[in-house]
Amino acid sequence: MKHLLEIAALSVLLCLPLRTEAQKFEELGKTPAMGWNSWNKYACDINEDLIKNVIDAMSTNGLRDAGYVYVNLDDCWHDQRDSLGFIHADPVKFKSGIKSLSDYAHLKNMKLGIYTCAGTKTCAGRPGSLGHEYQDALQYAKWGIDYVKEDWCYTHDDHVSAKCAYMVMRDAIYSTGRPMYLSLCEWGSNKPWEWAKDVGHSWRTTGDIENSFKSVLDIIDLQDSLRKYAGPGHWNDPDMLEVGNGMSENEDRAHFSMWCMLAAPLILGNDVCHMCKATADIIMNKEVIALDQDTLGIEGLKIGKEGNLEFWFKPLANGDWAFCILNRGMDAAKYTIDWKKLDLNDDLSKRSTDFDKSVYAIRNLWTKKNEGTTKKEKEVVVPGHDVLVYRLIMKK
Ligand code: GLA
Repeated sequence: MKHLLEIAALSVLLCLPLRTEAQKFEELGKTPAMGWNSWNKYACDINEDLIKNVIDAMSTNGLRDAGYVYVNLDDCWHDQRDSLGFIHADPVKFKSGIKSLSDYAHLKNMKLGIYTCAGTKTCAGRPGSLGHEYQDALQYAKWGIDYVKEDWCYTHDDHVSAKCAYMVMRDAIYSTGRPMYLSLCEWGSNKPWEWAKDVGHSWRTTGDIENSFKSVLDIIDLQDSLRKYAGPGHWNDPDMLEVGNGMSENEDRAHFSMWCMLAAPLILGNDVCHMCKATADIIMNKEVIALDQDTLGIEGLKIGKEGNLEFWFKPLANGDWAFCILNRGMDAAKYTIDWKKLDLNDDLSKRSTDFDKSVYAIRNLWTKKNEGTTKKEKEVVVPGHDVLVYRLIMKK
C-alpha cells in the first residue's frame, strides 16, 4: 500500500497519468450543476441530522423538483486516516457513516456530494487528498458519492501544479468506474479555464464569495472575459449562492439572475429548511432557472453600460435571447430601452439580435407578465441593486 501511495504522490509531482485511458465522466454537467452546499451557512458546524433535514426539505419543498438535486457536504466532515491511509467520516457528527447518508439521498431521488482538498490539508485543517487521491476516490465511490469538490489549500509548499493535481483526482475518480462530478476549487489562481475543460466539470473563477452585494458585483466583473471557455460539461463557477443569507430581496434577485445569465452552477448556500417565501420565490423561479439550464450552454455577455446600469444578453437554444439590466447603484434608475441601440453580434454563438428586422415578444421573468414586443421603445424603472430580466421570444 505504501508503494501505491508513493506512486500516486509521484504522479502528482511529475504530472504523469496513472492510467493512459483516463478521462473525466463526459456525460455529467451537460447543464450547470444545481444543488446545495453546507459551507456558506454552516461552515464547520455540520452533522448527519442537518444533512438529512436538508434532504427531507429539498425533496418536499419544491427545490429538488426545480432541479436542485445535489446535497454537498463541504469541509469538516472528516475524521483521520486509518493505518492504511483510508479516510473516514467524523464518527460523532456522522454516526451512521457517509454510505447511509448517500443511501438516504438516493432514496429521495437526490445525490450526495463531498469535499476534499488537493493539498496536504483542507482549508479547515482536515486531512487533504495529496498522495491519497486513488484511495479517496475509491472510498467516495464505495460510499455512493456523486459529486466531488476539490479545494486548493496547503498545496504551494509541496510544489503541486494545479493541472496535474486535478488530473490525478480526475483519473482516480475515473478508475473507480462511478460517475462523480468533479468541481475544481482553486479560486482561478492558475487560470483553470485555460486547461480544465477535460479535467473537471466546473472550476471556480474567483476567491470566496462573501454575503454582500459588493462581493457579488466584484465577482460579476471578473466573469465577462471568461465566457468563451465555458460550455456543456465544463463551466465557469463564480462560487456558491448567498441568496437567503441576509442580503436584501432586490440584491438576492440580482445575484441569482446574474448567476443564471452567467450559466453558473447554482449551488444554494442558505437554510433551505426554514426559508421565507421571498427567498423560495427567487431560487425556484423556473423561468429564470431555465436561462441557466439552457442547453445551448453559452454564457451571457455584457454589451454595455450607462451610469449604474449594465446590459447583458444571453443567447438561448431555441433562438430566443435572455436580456438583463443590472442596476449596480442604490437608487432606482429610469431608462428607455431603444432596442436598435442595443443590437448585437455575438461572435461566440454566431448569433445576432437584428432588432431592425426581427421582432421579439417580451416576457418579464420576475413579474411573469408579457410586456409587448421589441417593435417600439420601452420605458422601464430598475430598482436599486436589482435587475429586470426578460426573455425575448423569437416571433415565428
Ligand atoms: C475554501 C473554499 C470554500 C470552502 C472552504 C472550506 O475557502 O473556497 O468554498 O470550501 O474552503 O474550508
